[in-house]
Amino acid sequence: MTDFKKMAVPGVQKLSPYIPGKPISELERELGIDNIIKLASNENPLGPSPLAMQAIEQEMSELALYPDGNGFALKKALAKKHGVSMDCITLGNGSNDVLVLLAEAYLTPEHNAIYSQYSFAVYPIAIQAVGAQHQMIPATPWDAEQPLGCDLPAMLAAINDQTRLIFVANPNNPTGSFLSKTQLHDFIKQVPADVIVVLDEAYLEYSPLEERVDGTEWLKEFDNLVITRTFSKAYGLAGFRVGYCLSNPDIANVLNRIRQPFNVNSLALAAATAALNDEAFLQRSMAVNAAGMRMLEAACEQLGLRYVPSRGNFLLVDFARDAMPIYQHMLELGVITRPVANYGLPNCLRITIGTEAEMQRLVQVMQQVCG
Ligand SMILES: Cc1ncc(COP(=O)(O)O)c(C=O)c1O
Repeated sequence: MTDFKKMAVPGVQKLSPYIPGKPISELERELGIDNIIKLASNENPLGPSPLAMQAIEQEMSELALYPDGNGFALKKALAKKHGVSMDCITLGNGSNDVLVLLAEAYLTPEHNAIYSQYSFAVYPIAIQAVGAQHQMIPATPWDAEQPLGCDLPAMLAAINDQTRLIFVANPNNPTGSFLSKTQLHDFIKQVPADVIVVLDEAYLEYSPLEERVDGTEWLKEFDNLVITRTFSKAYGLAGFRVGYCLSNPDIANVLNRIRQPFNVNSLALAAATAALNDEAFLQRSMAVNAAGMRMLEAACEQLGLRYVPSRGNFLLVDFARDAMPIYQHMLELGVITRPVANYGLPNCLRITIGTEAEMQRLVQVMQQVCG
């Protein structure tokens, strides 16, 4: 029989597929229980923005038509929000799509891209899929001021003539660690002009306004800066798959050449445009997250579990022993969390912040399993 795996391009042959969290319905079937709560995929526990829901209903009657391939209404709203021109924006089927477009547009097997240990699993997948070299830089240690985060000086030192992209997530997933404005600005200043810094701000909205490090303010200063954002987290639209990046117009022009013409569907465009203006929903999402984060931090402290201080909608908790049996026990008690052994963190679980009721149940389950 033909070896179709061997026929694949070399970068793809070496890949391990991304392992997504299982849907609730599948786990309920497998375990024979119901009423499971899912705190595993950094989704918004409040559901989608109500304004997005209304917009979807209105858009339904147009489903026989192709979406607006240029995403005019969404780009216009984004341009206004960020104070950029529309030609700086590239829309994606989730920000994941934009990350892949960047790799496809700028990397070849002669090039390399740099990212940190314990950062989003899609970076190495996107880099390797195009056959480029991936350079994983060890993260900061547990006892660093910002544990398990990007070691920016080491990432700078790794740049060579073949480097085209550097991925930095702020806040970072799966650790939740974050970089200060000064750290990040000093770093970007030192990156050569022909190396593109991809600053992934998927979780930006969860930082309190006064502490928020918003890279969009540096877009005019650095031509080589690309900011990626998503509607999957604070806006509650993970199932719709909408994200975007902001960059100088030349980079956006390149990405738009390889983007599938209709990569964002019409319902998603309508939902995202409406959600962007749903300030009340965003405030509620942030408040629920902050309260839930305090509950989980308090539970960890009471149980003597260390964690990485997080500015995301999740917390990385260290159980100081193999976390898989703990994950399994919590699952049997109806709470899904995310093991991160595949990231090289076998003793940790990443726990997404849920509603107050979900967090109460989580804390009870943690006390039962670890107390
Ligand atoms: C750091 C980071 N970047 C990007 C993404 C991709 O999100 P999406 O493709 O849903 O926009 C995620 C999703 O979990 C993430 O954690």
